[in-house]
Amino acid sequence: LELQLNLEQIEKGGYDHFMLKEIYEQPHAILDTYRGRLLADQGIIRMAGIDQHLEKFVNANRIIIVACGTSWHAGLVAEYIFEDLARVPVEVEYASEFRYRNPIITDKDVLIAISQSGETADTLAAIKLAKEKGAFVFGVCNVVGSSIARETHAGAYTHAGPEIGVASTKAFTTQITILTLMALKLGKEKGEFSESKFHEYLAELENIPAKVQIALESNPLIEIIADVYKDSSNCLYLGRGYNFPVALEGALKLKEISYIHAEGYPAAEMKHGPIALIDEQMPVIVIATNKGHYEKVVSNIQEIKSRKGKIIAIVTEGDEQVKELADHVVEIPETIESLTPLLTTIPLQLLSYHIAVMRNCNVDQPRNLAKSVTVE
Ligand code: G6P
Repeated sequence: LELQLNLEQIEKGGYDHFMLKEIYEQPHAILDTYRGRLLADQGIIRMAGIDQHLEKFVNANRIIIVACGTSWHAGLVAEYIFEDLARVPVEVEYASEFRYRNPIITDKDVLIAISQSGETADTLAAIKLAKEKGAFVFGVCNVVGSSIARETHAGAYTHAGPEIGVASTKAFTTQITILTLMALKLGKEKGEFSESKFHEYLAELENIPAKVQIALESNPLIEIIADVYKDSSNCLYLGRGYNFPVALEGALKLKEISYIHAEGYPAAEMKHGPIALIDEQMPVIVIATNKGHYEKVVSNIQEIKSRKGKIIAIVTEGDEQVKELADHVVEIPETIESLTPLLTTIPLQLLSYHIAVMRNCNVDQPRNLAKSVTVE
């Protein structure tokens, strides 16, 4: 038993939990994802799975993304990225819904299946359905040689390394990284943006691991915030645009491991329901980075404040307006708007981690959840 315990401690690399280790691995994991693919000095993105099937992507009428859980949230971020950079219509579907609808799929569609494990039953079934209908199917998986990797026509691995914590962390940010590379490659091929914008993106992607590292430095502050809100029974997460899916993911992380009820919402939808819940007991986590509807999010923050909600804001470094209004602010470094999810996600992962630890929850193996869901 002692030997087993020591082995586990070694595997955790000095961290108390796999989840924390995996959160801290993200700068490296993101680097491993684009290593050999992002050749910024040459102005090239090299991805064999796309290079070999480029005409399928370029001629696609539509991209359909299917996934479950956290991977579905990465798909939602990708919807914004693909539409923005590659100017192609995108639909994002829960694999479990998609497979039982009578979806319209043609041979001009490209289906992207996102899955950390590569074994999720619903995602696998959605792939089989799309293949039967003639679509080209591309997999974004972490586990090499997994069922989804084998079942798809082509794909790209995230190379995040093994993810042991049931709550997905580094798989999410590496999925977003790979999907960003894909959208940039496709947009470049289709001539959707200037050479200089392309180079700006490549250069900034190379800065992301260091910026994630900086975002991780908020850990002690987040621990203090976690201590204030650890006994909450509800929590609301708000974000807009690229950071709306991040709000969903933040809420999912908290409910998965701390068992606090949490909901993610697009900030502007607050007035259509969640605002009714806001009182002095309600922590509201707002992603309010300086790009993308900043002023509108600031007015949402004012609305929360006037109803005495507690505001925890994720802001861009140097922010002054939100600082005046929020109860707590956590800063992330400045970056291009579409890359902000890679940074805004970090404090939300840490917040749910610390709250769960303080509530004595089993962080790495939360009740009722499985790492890989191979049944319906
Ligand atoms: C389970 C896991 C989640 C994961 C989801 C999809 O619910 O607990 O962390 O996001 O499955 O898994 P996949 O392996 O397909 O990404």
